[in-house]
Amino acid sequence: MKNILEAPFLIEMVRTMTNMYRLGWDERNSGNISLLLDRDQAAQYLDLDGPGRDIPTGFQAPALDGQCFLITGAGKYFKNAQYDPADGLGLVRLTQGGRNARVLWGLSGGGRPTSEFPAHMMSHAVRLGVDPAHRVVLHCHPTELLAMTYVHSLEERAFTRTLWQMCTECVFVFPDGVNVLPWMPCGTNEIGQATADKMSTARLVVWALHGIYAAGRDLDETFGLIETAEKAAQIYLKTAHLPRLNTITDAQLHQLEQRFGVKAREGWLD
Ligand code: 13P
Ligand code: ZN
Repeated sequence: MKNILEAPFLIEMVRTMTNMYRLGWDERNSGNISLLLDRDQAAQYLDLDGPGRDIPTGFQAPALDGQCFLITGAGKYFKNAQYDPADGLGLVRLTQGGRNARVLWGLSGGGRPTSEFPAHMMSHAVRLGVDPAHRVVLHCHPTELLAMTYVHSLEERAFTRTLWQMCTECVFVFPDGVNVLPWMPCGTNEIGQATADKMSTARLVVWALHGIYAAGRDLDETFGLIETAEKAAQIYLKTAHLPRLNTITDAQLHQLEQRFGVKAREGWLD
């Protein structure tokens, strides 16, 4: 068996967490990530059929039964992942139709999967139905997007259109726009299911007054989705109190659709 601490997927996960912390998106223990692993790749480092510590999940995810995920631990600080990956992260395999998570590596000292495990697993199931190449769900508390949810309408089309208008590349990066959930208690199956439902039509789901979820094919792409939306929110907040003299028009957004070969969410451009 190879040394898991040298696995590219583990190194990339730790780099992503460190970056997110540095950007101020993951203070204290905030944020969580899950990465669906290629089983042949993961099997180079661990016996995936071997014994492990079983943790009941409190939900079902039959579509993910047997799948292995690299996940962040509940209450763990992104800041510290680089110093002790085996404490902050875990490699788990879902068994019993998703009702059980078997810890095969990490979460040392009795750690548990992120409290947002339901939102992650339910979102994976939905996104895999939309895109078989889907692999990553990522949650964090980016400052500008979070601030924007206090002062902007939470209506999804309006919220998305504002972001699209703030940076030329937004409509190319997230043409499916941003879905928005109203404030709900976090860490529950209910918010997990609501997030997964929203994931059926967009890869970005804002949790009003809390943070954001993103889904994508790899860590870089998923991180980049949030990075781009966060930049747009920053421009919005820097300008919202000033008279708007110029904007990217819908006609120009249509030009960008042509230029980049993407289609903005149906009906969200005039
Ligand atoms: P966890 O530490 O359980 O991952 O929770 C952090 C968080 O952001 C909750 O929404
Ligand atoms: Zn959170």
